[in-house]
Amino acid sequence: MSLVTGGCGFIGSNFILDWLAIENEPVLVLDKLTYAGNISNLEQVQSHPLFTFVKGDINDKDLLETLFKKYQPRAILNFAAESHVDRSINDPDQFIRNNVNGTFCLLESARQYWLKLNTVEQASFRFLQVSTDEVYGSLKTYDPPFNETTKYSPNNPYSASKAAADHLVNAYFHTYGLPIFITNCSNNYGPLQFPEKLIPFTLLNALQNKPLLIYGDGLQIRDWLYVTDHCAAIRQVLANGKPGETFNVGGQSEKTNLEVVNTVCQILDEIKPHPNSIPYASLITHIKDRPGHDRRYAIDAAKIRHELEWEPKENFASGLRKTISWYLNNLSWIQTIKSHSSFQNWLELNYEKRGSE
Ligand code: NAD
Ligand code: DAU
Repeated sequence: MSLVTGGCGFIGSNFILDWLAIENEPVLVLDKLTYAGNISNLEQVQSHPLFTFVKGDINDKDLLETLFKKYQPRAILNFAAESHVDRSINDPDQFIRNNVNGTFCLLESARQYWLKLNTVEQASFRFLQVSTDEVYGSLKTYDPPFNETTKYSPNNPYSASKAAADHLVNAYFHTYGLPIFITNCSNNYGPLQFPEKLIPFTLLNALQNKPLLIYGDGLQIRDWLYVTDHCAAIRQVLANGKPGETFNVGGQSEKTNLEVVNTVCQILDEIKPHPNSIPYASLITHIKDRPGHDRRYAIDAAKIRHELEWEPKENFASGLRKTISWYLNNLSWIQTIKSHSSFQNWLELNYEKRGSE
C-alpha cells in the first residue's frame, strides 16, 4: 500500500488515475479537500478495489498514526500543498501551515512509524516529496537551466514554503536516515487543473469572451510539462531512485506566457472558433504585474533522463491540444468550479482592483 497525500488536487488526481491503470498496488489517498481538492476528480475510481479515500489533514498527527497502523504503507508520496503563487502573495498563512508545518508533521509521523518497522521494511520504505523548480528562484535570459546542485533562492511565499519543506525532507535523510526523495518539477498542465492557473484560466476566459489577462509584459518564461509525464517521472523515482536523491523534472519546453496564451488562442480558433468570428488573441489584455514575479524558470532534467531513463512523451503542441480537448469535453467540471462563490471571491480579490500596467 502507498499513501498519496493531496490526491484530489490537479497532479495528485492524475497520479492516482494513472497509478490505478498501471500498477497493481493498493493506494490510500489522504486529502483535506481545500478549495483546490475535488473528490469528483477521482469519481471514476471510487469503487476500484485498490482505492481508498480518507478526508483529513497532513497536520493531524493522531489521524496519521491511525492510518499508518491500519494501512502499513510502504511508501508516502506527499503532493499535499497550497500551490498557487498569487494566493500565497494575498494570504501566506495557509502556505506555512500546509506546506511547512504539514510536511514536518507528515515527516515526523512517518519517522515514528518507520522506526517500528523491521530492518528489511525500513530499507524498502520510501518518502517522496513532490516539489517545484520555483525553489531555485529566477534565471536571467542566458543563465543555464536549474540542475540538482543549483542553490535554493526562493522569491515568493509559496516557493519559500516549498523550499523550507524540502530542507526538512533532506534533513530527515541526513539526520535519521529516512529514505527520502525530492522531485523538483516545472510548470504542469493538463486535465483537471484548477482554473486559477494560467492555461485553464485563459481557456475559461476565452470561452466566456472575457479578457485574457497577462501579468506585465508577458515575457516571463516557464518550462511546461504535460501532467502525465510528471506522474511517470514520480513513479520512476519511487521505483528506481536511490534514497536521499533529488531529481529535477522538466519538459525542455521553455515558453513566454504570451507564447502560451497565443498558442491556446490558435488552437481554439481552429477547433472552437469565437462566435463572433474574431481571433481569440484579440482578447489579450495586459494587467499589473505579479509582485516579485520570477522572470524565468528552466530545468535541466539530464539526471533523471540518464539515471532513470525517463523521457516526456508529450511535447507542448500535442499536450496542449489534448488539454484543450479535455476541457471542451468536460465543460461541466469547470462550470461547477466557476460558479462557486469562493472562486468568484478569488477573481475579485486578485483581478478586479489590480489595475493595468
Ligand atoms: P493543487 O492545489 O491542485 O492540489 C493540492 C491538493 O492538496 C488539494 O487536493 C488539497 O486539498 C490538498 N491539500 C492541501 N493542503 C492539505 C493538507 N494540509 N492536508 C491534506 N491535503 C491537503 O496542487 P497541484 O498543482 O496538484 O500540485 C501538487 C503538488 O505538486 C504540490 O506540492 C505542488 O507544490 C507541486 N508542484 C506543482 C506544479 C504545478 O505546476 N502545478 C509543479 C511542480 C510541483
Ligand atoms: O514552476 C512550477 C510552479 O508552476 C508550481 O510549483 C506551482 O504550483 C504552479 O502553480 C506553477 O506556478 P506559476 O506561478 O508559474 O503558475 P501560474 O499558472 O499561476 O502562472 C504561470 C505564469 O503565468 C506566471 O508567470 C504568471 C502568469 N500569469 C498567471 C495568471 C494566473 C498571468 O500572466 N496571468 C494570470 O492570470
